[in-house]
Amino acid sequence: MLTEQNMKTERLLTFTATLFLAVTAGAQKAEFLSSRHALLRLDTPKKYLLLPVEEKEDNAHIRVIKDNQLVKTFNCKLATEKADYFVPYEVGEGELLDITFQGTPRSNGSIGDFACWKRMTYADTFDTANREQHRPLYHHSPACGWMNDPNGMFYKDGTWHLYYQYNPYGSQWENMTWGHSSSTDLVHWEHHPAPIEPDGLGSIFSGSCVVDKENTAGFGKDAIIAFYTSAGQSQTQCLAYSTDNGMTFTKYDRNPIITSTVPDFRDPHVFWNEEAGHWNLILAAGQQMSIYSSANLKEWKHESDFGATYGNHGGVWECPDLMKLPVAGTDKEKWMLICNINPGGPWGGSAAQYFIGDFDGKTFTCESKPEVTKWMDYGKDHYATVTFDNAPDGRRVGIAWMSNWQYANQVPTQQFRSANSIAREYGLFEYNGETYCSVKPVKEMDTLRGNQRKTPSEACEMVVTLKGDAQLTLRNDRNERVVISYNQEDGIIDFDRRHSGNVSFSDAFPTIVTTPTYGTVHQLRIFIDRCSIELFDEEGKVAMTNLVFPTTPYNRLTLKGKAKAKIYSLKN
Ligand code: FRU
Repeated sequence: MLTEQNMKTERLLTFTATLFLAVTAGAQKAEFLSSRHALLRLDTPKKYLLLPVEEKEDNAHIRVIKDNQLVKTFNCKLATEKADYFVPYEVGEGELLDITFQGTPRSNGSIGDFACWKRMTYADTFDTANREQHRPLYHHSPACGWMNDPNGMFYKDGTWHLYYQYNPYGSQWENMTWGHSSSTDLVHWEHHPAPIEPDGLGSIFSGSCVVDKENTAGFGKDAIIAFYTSAGQSQTQCLAYSTDNGMTFTKYDRNPIITSTVPDFRDPHVFWNEEAGHWNLILAAGQQMSIYSSANLKEWKHESDFGATYGNHGGVWECPDLMKLPVAGTDKEKWMLICNINPGGPWGGSAAQYFIGDFDGKTFTCESKPEVTKWMDYGKDHYATVTFDNAPDGRRVGIAWMSNWQYANQVPTQQFRSANSIAREYGLFEYNGETYCSVKPVKEMDTLRGNQRKTPSEACEMVVTLKGDAQLTLRNDRNERVVISYNQEDGIIDFDRRHSGNVSFSDAFPTIVTTPTYGTVHQLRIFIDRCSIELFDEEGKVAMTNLVFPTTPYNRLTLKGKAKAKIYSLKN
């Protein structure tokens, strides 16, 4: 969470940091063995080597060698011409970096002239104070580096833990590691060291965590058990456990625990199935979801597959989740299977579809016809949605990655890339003979509400009461704008971000997207942050998440039709 004070300090720190670099930066003594190969001995008592990154470059492959042994490898777009930003490499004593530049470096000079050698510095601290205009003020984003899917989320002893797909060595997808943050209120997040790093089995792709209350796995009562995909030569499923509430993990010495010949075989989601009396695991296996069961979390039995002929198959099936939810206004409960898909989303690229039905611990049976496709959120930037294990009071709380693979690596930020959606609570509702997922902002969002204000700001919530068709335009001083239109008769809401600000980084970004409303909408809740707008209706039937990059915040709201808006500052 960033505050204004933070931002001021940050400017100061940035200035001081620049000065510091100018004074102390000096050529690092690398040895050049060919036009693309260098060795760099890290002889320093300092904690970090700050690596200069140039995003347009190809990766340099870095092998870390200690006592003649390979201890780690990672890729980093080391600068050849100019440093866009720096990433911290934590130095181990006596390490040697064996660096091979891949692709065709853009510099005209030889390897010894590359900018990285001059700009690399050793330091004891790394400044993560925000330098970005578009960094959200109340959404979770990584302190630095790249983030995609939320992973391994669980709740325990008053704390919500959020892991995420993370690249510590650049702000584009690479070096998949689990990053870690935690929160006691789902709104203010604290950053922790990355607890699961790539190893000999591969990089660490998405997965889940459970709290093993009965010590079924034998790693201790209440141990946190993480399941993730090792992306190596093949994708395999692995286990790691934590006995310190998720701060550090030990990888199981008999990994992998589940293998397959299917190439896209990933993103295990595990949960305790109360009725069946066993653990279930669901993962994406090509164009279907595979379901497993287990008594001890280590040995898994394949039970069934779901979905080959159901729903949308316009892309790769990824990041599943499976849960039982109450149906509003009835005493029924049904199962919801979440299936993220990329591409194939309703507006191109990534999106989360879901299926409603029954699950007996072995087989999921969808109650809709195979051709029916349902989406959890009709915005462009809602992906990899999964829920927390062990949430209190029977709550079903989830978070989505707020981006789209169509342009995630290009959005106009650098120090960090990507933020997560606000946390949402899921349920079910019936409409015209079908059952749908309801999506509401978690009640913790209410605690952020500050004073009512007259105009929108870079971090605010708008509550808009509607009586029929209406059009809301959010605009800034440069006439950059977002237009939200409700058409009651058609039962739709359009969200037009074609002129929302910086839209030039991808042809897929400037679009109008539309959501069905499943009945009349009486009130909208709209959450604005520096690079996102999330729109919900009061009943949870409408959810739309979209990124926007206004060059200056929207500060005017125009309403057409019978609509009234209340605007609240969101304090953090
Ligand atoms: C979804 C995804 C997952 C995979 C991860 C890799 O966005 O492709 O299927 O585990 O990202 O970062």
